[in-house]
Amino acid sequence: MESAEWAGLWDAEAGWLNTASYGLPPRVAWEALQAALSDWRVGATSWEPWDESTTRARAAFARLIGADAADVFVGSTVSAALVPIAAALPDGARVLTDDVEFTSNVFPWQVHADRGVDVIAVPGDDVIAAIRPGVDLVAVSAVQSSTGAVLDLAKVVAASKEIGALVVVDATQAVGWHPIDVAGVDALISHSYKWLMSPRGATFGYLSPRLQERCRPGAAGWYAARDVHGSYYGTAMDLAPGARRFDQSPAWFSFVGAAPALELIEQIGVSTINRHNLALANEFRDGLGLAPSNSAIVSTSLPGAEEAFAAAGIRAAVRGGKLRASFHIYSTQDDVHRALDALKPLLH
Ligand SMILES: Cc1ncc(COP(=O)(O)O)c(C=O)c1O
Repeated sequence: MESAEWAGLWDAEAGWLNTASYGLPPRVAWEALQAALSDWRVGATSWEPWDESTTRARAAFARLIGADAADVFVGSTVSAALVPIAAALPDGARVLTDDVEFTSNVFPWQVHADRGVDVIAVPGDDVIAAIRPGVDLVAVSAVQSSTGAVLDLAKVVAASKEIGALVVVDATQAVGWHPIDVAGVDALISHSYKWLMSPRGATFGYLSPRLQERCRPGAAGWYAARDVHGSYYGTAMDLAPGARRFDQSPAWFSFVGAAPALELIEQIGVSTINRHNLALANEFRDGLGLAPSNSAIVSTSLPGAEEAFAAAGIRAAVRGGKLRASFHIYSTQDDVHRALDALKPLLH
């Protein structure tokens, strides 16, 4: 799809540079959600049509990460999706992570400290070198939330394979703009409310077949059953094969919004989105006197930037004391120019 075709598919107001906090819905997702809400309000339909969105969204997510949909489960949050994996770690396991890792990929491991699970955090640049014998699991983000640093996933996978460690990736800040392939990864979790431009509450998780075997589906309910609609009551538990037995029953409306958003991302293409986002991020960096990078998230120390952005109506974030601006498919050159104009008085 060419930029002229996608430009009109969102209703973003100028100055939204904060997709790393939440993404804006494409109109097709917004409209699907409004239609479902209207039906809900008056009781116009049963819920099954809303649930069909879960199947569509799961399939689209699987295609986006190069996985089989049978190895993808759905849930509500990144931290909850990690619970079965953390529970499967043996006592005394060692987990390696980045020292600025988002805590939804840290605390689920740390809560097992009482049985000796030890979380070791090193600076991002040292993660690959720290993958040494004795590490049982590497828990890292494909793109860091606070700094925008892009992980060399292939290197992490290769180093982990050498020592037999599991690789668990939080791809919340990556899927939707950064090409991802789950080959060699044991688990990859992504919330969808940022770069996948969906309502909060729809999380996807890839679990490799070998990890599925090791994990207990601790959140199983009716929706994790082989026959969902035949499993509302009673003790005859027959869970779904594959990753679906790790499903949490879906937050319907989140998935109603997620399915069309993910399908639109596929239609436009991640490589097109990647090029667009990086071009804008690098134009912004250039204006700040920074070298180009490979991230759609720009993080920089610039005293007074938060106030200057607020005064100019630019919506960005401050993380770890630094300004964080993020650029997605609906961001424009006009957004970049407005942001740079606002910061000009601060630049020497
Ligand atoms: C990298 C990353 N992971 C996860 C989340 C959200 O986590 P959860 O779904 O557990 O609320 C965020 C939100 O900012 C994030 O940046």
